[in-house]
Amino acid sequence: MVRVALVGLGFMGRMHLSIYGNIKGVEITALCDAREEGLDLSKAGGGNIAVGEMTTDLSKVKKFTNYEEMLQAGGFDYVDLCVPTYLHKDFSVQALRAGYDVFCEKPMALSTSDAEEMIRVADETGKLLTVGQCLRFWPMYVKVKELIDSKKYGEVISAEFSRYSPYPTWSTNDWMLKGELSGSAAVDLHVHDVDIIHFYFGKPRSVTSSGVEAPGGGYGHISTIYEYPGMTVTSVGNWLCADNFPLIMRALIVFEKGVINLDTSQKDPLVIFEGKKRTVFKLDERNGYYFELVSFVENVKTRTAPEVVTAATAKESLNTVMTEIKSAYKGKRVKVK
Ligand SMILES: NC(=O)c1ccc[n+]([C@@H]2O[C@H](COP(=O)([O-])OP(=O)(O)OC[C@H]3O[C@@H](n4cnc5c(N)ncnc54)[C@H](O)[C@@H]3O)[C@@H](O)[C@H]2O)c1
Repeated sequence: MVRVALVGLGFMGRMHLSIYGNIKGVEITALCDAREEGLDLSKAGGGNIAVGEMTTDLSKVKKFTNYEEMLQAGGFDYVDLCVPTYLHKDFSVQALRAGYDVFCEKPMALSTSDAEEMIRVADETGKLLTVGQCLRFWPMYVKVKELIDSKKYGEVISAEFSRYSPYPTWSTNDWMLKGELSGSAAVDLHVHDVDIIHFYFGKPRSVTSSGVEAPGGGYGHISTIYEYPGMTVTSVGNWLCADNFPLIMRALIVFEKGVINLDTSQKDPLVIFEGKKRTVFKLDERNGYYFELVSFVENVKTRTAPEVVTAATAKESLNTVMTEIKSAYKGKRVKVK
């Protein structure tokens, strides 16, 4: 049995908690939230994706409102961090140093240097560290990766990614709306597409970005052109949409011999067009949150390093986001280091 301590029971913590109920061989033994009401699971959290039914067995759970006390009490194998992003670095480092493996929600941190520190401590302690870059496990994005790698439709000519969300007014004490605490849409939301762009095509040579500031600071909208040899890759991330606008994820990929249209606002969210043929893909209904947690539980159980999302790949994606912000700020193309 792999024992989990889940920390931060807002939107994402409740999402993870509901998912653990569907994973065999896992036991939640500790829950921690700084707010008593976060520990009250009879109430729903916020968020822009529906949280599944809460069937998770909590009979062995100890509840904590203080993170350090939870680490000292122990009784778990890894810590699942669903706390606000400005706590990711410190909470990860504390858990690793206390001898625990860590699953940390995305974005890994608020700066590349913080992400590097997390990696350094994971290396020093020999503990496992991964980050919730869930798109690499999301069935429709995984299918697209298979089609790109197989070259079934030839080479990619162009790829356009976008992610639109209502303004995230659900977060505790509005931490997400404060640019210095969340990085705004450019870091928080857009890192998903940047990570999937890295997963499909590797690191871009340079980025040219343009941004629109959010009311609480940081870029609430960012558009970017990524430099890759032989193809055009672009993306948009925006969380300035109306409250009743649904979260939409899109990717439109044009190949030499076909087109992939991924669009979660459509009845058929993944369709391939090839000549006169239109193929709708049947997708596993379980989402990337499920598969990423299943994968990390297996890593912890077998003491094997994560391979699909590593701390290093998450840091690289964060670094590209930071380069985009620099580019938007300077109004010119910037090389990705
Ligand atoms: N993978 C995804 O698709 C996805 C989606 C949404 C959010 N996230 C990420 O998940 C993380 C949490 O976001 P959220 O939307 O759940 O936020 P949220 O505000 O809904 O929840 C955060 C929770 O952490 C708790 N918390 C704050 N300080 C704490 C502390 N010191 N000790 C213990 N608990 C503390 C809060 O009380 C709250 O319950 C963020 O990093 C966010 O970017 C990821």
